[in-house]
Amino acid sequence: MGKERNKSGFSKEFSLARRPTFVRVNLDTILDNLKILKNHLAKHTELIAVVKANAYGHGAVAVSRFLEKHGISHFAVATALEGEELRNAGIHCNIQVLGNASEDEIQTLYENRLIPTVANEKFLSSWLRLWRQQQRNTLCVEDGLPIGAVVLKVDTGMSRNGCQPSQLWSLVEYCENNNIPIHSIMTHFAQSWDDQIFTQTQMNTFMEVTAPYRERGIKVHVANSGAILNKIGVDLDYVRPGISMYGQAPDTSDFGINATKTAGLKPALSWHAKASAVNDLEPGRVVGYDQTYRCTSNERVAVIPIGYADGYLRNMFKNGYVSTEDGPWQLH
Ligand SMILES: Cc1ncc(COP(=O)(O)O)c(C=O)c1O
Repeated sequence: MGKERNKSGFSKEFSLARRPTFVRVNLDTILDNLKILKNHLAKHTELIAVVKANAYGHGAVAVSRFLEKHGISHFAVATALEGEELRNAGIHCNIQVLGNASEDEIQTLYENRLIPTVANEKFLSSWLRLWRQQQRNTLCVEDGLPIGAVVLKVDTGMSRNGCQPSQLWSLVEYCENNNIPIHSIMTHFAQSWDDQIFTQTQMNTFMEVTAPYRERGIKVHVANSGAILNKIGVDLDYVRPGISMYGQAPDTSDFGINATKTAGLKPALSWHAKASAVNDLEPGRVVGYDQTYRCTSNERVAVIPIGYADGYLRNMFKNGYVSTEDGPWQLH
């Protein structure tokens, strides 16, 4: 990237970063992407914004604060510690912890009023014991947040977290008998971006096993980004978009990439760097480790000072382009 561009647009960011490279996250783009995703949903369906893993690298606190200000009232993170970080930053609304609820995290879940994702009765009984020890009533609502609520997760085919479909009734019964509020029941899809048949099988299992509970008004959700883009589970009570919120494809399959583009989702993150050297090389000169590139004519090669420490892996060579004032330059 040339000097003019740095002068006109980026000098402040470079000086803040104190490095010749920085990442810019456009929060408005995330909001725009959510609006696009919302258009795929039934009117009553609500968003749970997935901000796990530091909002997929976009900054969980900044993203959640911004979205909360713009009316998002449900977030999902991977771990209790991620939830605690959001509470410490003043995020007030519902925060579901997607990882399988474990006793190791129970205190952090409790203290931060996070919503655990539960797959077994053992956790439910520890959860209940903790609330009772504190002489707190799990059935009440404090500051608009249901106290002690849990999400029950059922495994419909991914074979990762979740109870088996045949066990769901006993978890629901345990909650109901002990006044533990059920925020919702969910499942997770294994390949919603490009295996419609398997996804529909998961969906059918979920709808069958949850039918009696939906009738009683218990809320349900299934859809991650791939499912939303494929319009599966988009008329249930919630959807849980992650990667698509940030404008990235749910998968590297053609479907994933095309569906993201067709929907008009835009990447919220851009990575900027100042070239540390620009070399004019003659035909036959090789460039970089493993001689990955050989000049075929007189060529201008820029050195961009980023690497492992910045999250750029060597095996990404030839997989991307850099936007410059002169148009896209291939990465080597
Ligand atoms: C249970 C659950 N729901 C939703 C998501 C969001 O998925 P995606 O980023 O594909 O939208 C995740 C992410 O891993 C997840 O674990």
